[in-house]
Amino acid sequence: MSTTVVSLSAKTQYFLDLENQFGAHNYHPLPVVLEKGEGVFLWDVEGKRYYDFLSGYSAVNQGHCHPKIIKALIEQATRLTLTSRAFHNNLLGEYEQYITAYFGYDKVLPMNTGVEGGETAIKLARRWAYTKKGVEDNKAKVIFAQNNFWGRTMAAISSSTDPSSYHQFGPYMPGFEIVPYNDLVSLEKALQDPNVAAYMVEPIQGEAGVVVPDEGYLTAVRELCTQYNVLLIADEIQTGLARTGKMLACDHEGVRPDILILGKALSGGVLPVSAVLADDFIMLNIKPGEHGSTYGGNPLACKVAMAALEVLKEENMAECAEEMGQLFRYELGKLDSPFIKLIRGKGLLNAIVINHPNPEAAWDLCLLLKEEGLLAKPTHGDKIRFAPPLIISAAQIHECVQIIDKCLKMLGK
Ligand SMILES: Cc1ncc(COP(=O)(O)O)c(C=O)c1O
Repeated sequence: MSTTVVSLSAKTQYFLDLENQFGAHNYHPLPVVLEKGEGVFLWDVEGKRYYDFLSGYSAVNQGHCHPKIIKALIEQATRLTLTSRAFHNNLLGEYEQYITAYFGYDKVLPMNTGVEGGETAIKLARRWAYTKKGVEDNKAKVIFAQNNFWGRTMAAISSSTDPSSYHQFGPYMPGFEIVPYNDLVSLEKALQDPNVAAYMVEPIQGEAGVVVPDEGYLTAVRELCTQYNVLLIADEIQTGLARTGKMLACDHEGVRPDILILGKALSGGVLPVSAVLADDFIMLNIKPGEHGSTYGGNPLACKVAMAALEVLKEENMAECAEEMGQLFRYELGKLDSPFIKLIRGKGLLNAIVINHPNPEAAWDLCLLLKEEGLLAKPTHGDKIRFAPPLIISAAQIHECVQIIDKCLKMLGK
């Protein structure tokens, strides 16, 4: 049971009640109502300022309302926002050229949300298996890792091992198989089935609580996929775009996936923009009418995504994430709190695992952090992810570690 009591103002309570009465109860947010964001900061309706240590689940890597991204948004919004793919628009080709050169793939398929990116990748892999690998129709399999998270569509929950995602939503999508994460022996066994089209994996499992696999895991996965003629799909929706200290988390091991899925920070937190990248031998198996989305590749998204990608390079955000991430873990490690069981992460995608007899301690700690001006959210009960925007400074990291220290000391036994 939560033991931390926070008093909420009438104004805050008003917004909470409104959502509670008229919105579906499919989230359990921290009781804070935000109305403004700039850089690493958010402000609530009372005018109180917070450090954002979630960054919209790593969608706001570039910082809130980044001026260059917002400028691109506003300029394009007053010109042309949506044409649908029934017609061409003057930005789609430019964006496609830009993003394929940026990541080194032949083609891109633009979508909107991350989960649509995942769906798209699976369709591409299944189609490739039937047309190129010679798998018998309707027999293709896709392998996933235990504790994966890639959204809540029917396909995503069909590959989930988390009961809160899949329970009482069946029947589930067939053709999916689960192997333990970071376990090459089990993966190799699964890949030996000639019907396997792809292994879809997060280079670091984000929602599972920032689970970093052993060094060399991705390299070995790449080798196994090549050996068994299976496509490697990297879900870099959360780990990509400078978050872990490289442009892609796969870059830490120099691994090139066959299919790369991007989302979240591809728009800097401005619009839902996702993208699936692959080479022609995969991408060109899908023909007109076989996949698409009304908003996918809209000119507003194209313009915003190009600005968001430019900002990542112009401001050396991967290097910042690497440097500030090391500082953050080092400073956190010095706290020596009995309540921190583990600190893990890469770049600025980090988490602590809480060691406390109260199963609500992580939630309570997040409430205390909120009171002290830092917003973070527990994942899977005992883990708290710390993922600020990548523009955070060393001085700000020090200040935030002091806040965390203070709150850990306030957390009762
Ligand atoms: C690794 C990963 N893949 C996919 C998704 C789904 O993205 P979206 O919520 O934009 O659909 C998420 C969302 O958290 C994610 O972390």
